[in-house]
Amino acid sequence: METTKSAKFYITTPIYYVNARPHIGHTYTTMVCDAIARRHRLLGHDTFFLTGTDEHGQKIERSAAAAGKSPQQFADEISGEFRALWDRLGISYDKFIRTTSREHKRGTQEMFKLLEERGYIYKGSYSGQYCVFDELYVDVNTPGAPCPECGRPTETVREENYFFKLSAMEEPLLKLYTENPNFIRPETRRNEVIAFVRGGLRDLSVSRTTFQWGIPVPGDPAHVIYVWLDALCNYITAMGFGSPDAKDQAQFKHYWPADVHMVGKEIVRFHCVYWPAFLMAAGLPLPKGIVAHGWLLFEESKMSKSRGNIVRSETILEVLGADALRYFLMREIVFGQDGSFSFDALVQRYNADLANGLGNLASRTLSMITRYFKGEVPYPSHDLSRSTNPPLTDRAVFEVSLAETVISNFNAKFDEFNFSGALAEVWSLIAAVDKYIVENEPWTLAEKRDEESKARLATVLYNSAEALRIVTALAHPVIPDATARIWSQLGLGEIGKLRLQELKWGQLAIGTKLGKVEAVFPRADKSAIERMQQLEQEGRTQTPVAAPATAPAQPAAQPPASAAPAATAPQAAAANSESPTITIEDFMKIDLRVAQVKFAERVKGADKLLRLEIDLGGETRQIVAGIAKSYTPEQLIGRKIVVVANLAPRKLRGLESKGMLLAATLGDGEPVLAGFLEEVAPGAKLK
Ligand code: MSP
Repeated sequence: METTKSAKFYITTPIYYVNARPHIGHTYTTMVCDAIARRHRLLGHDTFFLTGTDEHGQKIERSAAAAGKSPQQFADEISGEFRALWDRLGISYDKFIRTTSREHKRGTQEMFKLLEERGYIYKGSYSGQYCVFDELYVDVNTPGAPCPECGRPTETVREENYFFKLSAMEEPLLKLYTENPNFIRPETRRNEVIAFVRGGLRDLSVSRTTFQWGIPVPGDPAHVIYVWLDALCNYITAMGFGSPDAKDQAQFKHYWPADVHMVGKEIVRFHCVYWPAFLMAAGLPLPKGIVAHGWLLFEESKMSKSRGNIVRSETILEVLGADALRYFLMREIVFGQDGSFSFDALVQRYNADLANGLGNLASRTLSMITRYFKGEVPYPSHDLSRSTNPPLTDRAVFEVSLAETVISNFNAKFDEFNFSGALAEVWSLIAAVDKYIVENEPWTLAEKRDEESKARLATVLYNSAEALRIVTALAHPVIPDATARIWSQLGLGEIGKLRLQELKWGQLAIGTKLGKVEAVFPRADKSAIERMQQLEQEGRTQTPVAAPATAPAQPAAQPPASAAPAATAPQAAAANSESPTITIEDFMKIDLRVAQVKFAERVKGADKLLRLEIDLGGETRQIVAGIAKSYTPEQLIGRKIVVVANLAPRKLRGLESKGMLLAATLGDGEPVLAGFLEEVAPGAKLK
């Protein structure tokens, strides 16, 4: 991020679907963006931080129907929850955009018109498969064929549609990626996108007629605009694109293009292929960079309602505070990779780094200055310090080497999105000061009456307080609340006034009067973990889910099971009263068997697919199932499952799947595997 002092900086989160309540996965993205935005503000940049909710599309329409609400009412409720949570967590967003807002609808229609005027949209007819869960057109021809992304059965769409000439963008996109190596980060995601585009791009259908919950196509209201075109436009409509108002237009001109679009790894393609293609076609500037992070796993598996392992941010907020969650997510998760969340790890980090680390350094340093120097920052007598206690001479440790190195390493790492490494730098300074205090024993010096000891005591406490100031300044974007309090205890007033680029050793003025010293991070004991677990339990039973698990939305045209040779049957248990009846003979044609998973692994290049080797009572088979977002390979090995054993084999991502496993589907599409409470041998038939 090369930005100069007065530069503008515009950062966005993805806009969150309103079919599910916020959990710490959503919070993770938002907190990372918040820390980046806060850091840019401290650097004096003209910063704009956008977040919001994605409220249109078939998936939301169906979730609303399943919850017995109108789509608007449903969207209002969940969007309100996201916003209220971001406020409670102290997220410093500048704007919260909703795709159901007037300004967004108008701006998206303007974008559609612009694309049409410039010859990139034409009317044609589409017949093919669509995955409602991913809101994705799927390049397969068989009705009911599984989505290659998630394995769920696709729906056949036969419509007259508007098409976007994506095929014309293949070369310009490849040129863009080659000329701007930082356009997609990290490198692994960049390579995936390049490979995808090299594989060839087909024109994209950008309107639908079979449902209503969307933005009407200008001049042809029987069509609604494809939900991803609608959603991606939020990044420009929020800034004033498409508004007739001169002030809005000036704001758009000022902030656009975005400096960073932060996204989870599963939506890289939409942001790195479709979005720049739309913008190029419209003749608008392109974002400077798209940065993808990994998934947050809970106790080693992707959070899922079915397993009851969704963690709500409110729970952590209540027990340990928002700073604890922010620090944990940015320190513990290696940015770009998947990372685990657990209450144990959270409390361990909290105690080690915040209570015993930063909190302890602040309270011991500040209370000693209060006690020994009447709460005024003492004069550091360098000459005396030099003569004592090598090799930890004060100047060498803090002024010349460590503090300056920490500042420059922190800056470099943070700006490369290596947040964990950047924070480790800061905490190395905390560890050095702790060691310095222990070795110099200021409490012993304070008992001595001679001048040299007094001067030495002043030096030790000055240096400790100065190091504390530097640590506090650097950590502020990540743990804004506690650092603001330490800053004011240091007698430095409002931390927001700090200018990070001017930060260097020795700026703590002698004689600064400290504020009231109070602990910022009280130690957490075991009961904190129990309390959080209990709150999660209560939350689960008390908070109604967006779409009741017992009444999942049914796709409009669900093909019969026999015509849907899917790798999973996530809709299987969602009995629909309108399902046609079948005879016992029909049923007997289906060979349902118990199988045991012998081996499981992720399918390379497919986020949602797992390859399983199953034992069908003597026979070993391979099946490919779209359940990787809900189950890890480790969880499945040894587990008994139910499979349709006589399903015609089919290929998924080049792998043959001989059979289909059975799963129920929760309201948000989450699969839950069918299984048994009693012992059942592999191969046993179900009837
Ligand atoms: N609405 C689309 C995005 C449109 S942007 C123009 C969408 N929404 S989402 O709610 O499903 O997910 C949004 C983002 O939430 C993900 O990209 C990711 O950043 C974040 N996360 C949701 N669950 C997560 C985890 N378990 N772990 C980490 N991030 C997660 O996709």
